Amino acid sequence: MSYSLKKTWPDFVSFMEQILEIENVSFTVPWSAKSFEEEINKSISNLWAIITDQKLFAYICFWMFDREIHILNFAVHPQKRNTGLGKFLLENIIEAGTAGGVENIWLEVRPSNIPALSIYKKFGFIEAGLRKAYYSDSREDAIIMALDLTGKEMDKVSNC
Ligand SMILES: CC(C)(COP(=O)(O)OP(=O)(O)OC[C@H]1O[C@@H](n2cnc3c(N)ncnc32)[C@H](O)[C@@H]1OP(=O)(O)O)[C@@H](O)C(=O)NCCC(=O)NCCS
Repeated sequence: MSYSLKKTWPDFVSFMEQILEIENVSFTVPWSAKSFEEEINKSISNLWAIITDQKLFAYICFWMFDREIHILNFAVHPQKRNTGLGKFLLENIIEAGTAGGVENIWLEVRPSNIPALSIYKKFGFIEAGLRKAYYSDSREDAIIMALDLTGKEMDKVSNC
């Protein structure tokens, strides 16, 4: 099957049901439809998705501003995991960031999220710091991960 990548398209709300279906099984504190809509209305926000024949299989939401990308939300349909879709989305973001002069990509991840940690490390993200008790449900810390797109050595971020 060939997949197509949609980039912050105007009628994304018509896919909200499919987005929420993935969101609700992927996260213990899922975003609501309102969260997605409010997020996408911000000028720095982007929502990219893999959609084929009107079926949405994966999405990633990120900010791009001031030579930085911050990934806010990223999920693949459970039945499509481990088939390369996550890799496909990250590759495209890294490519867009590099072309747009982005220097760093940042995100937060739970230390218990082994699949996510694994994919980020595969792409060269490093553990740059910790946000203490970041997650509201479990009070789990977040690992701050960073990918340097300039090839420069990065400084450690302090805990916050
Ligand atoms: C994290 C997630 C987006 C990965 O997407 P995916 O499409 O399944 O990943 P891919 O098939 O592209 O796999 C890429 C790499 O991820 C890692 N990976 C994926 N699933 C894994 C698993 N179950 N265990 C360990 N590593 C895993 C591997 O390193 C893999 O590389 P490989 O194929 O060379 O072994 C997906 O597991 C998901 O939606 N999880 C729930 C939501 C979530 O946790 N999002 C991230 C929040 S920070």
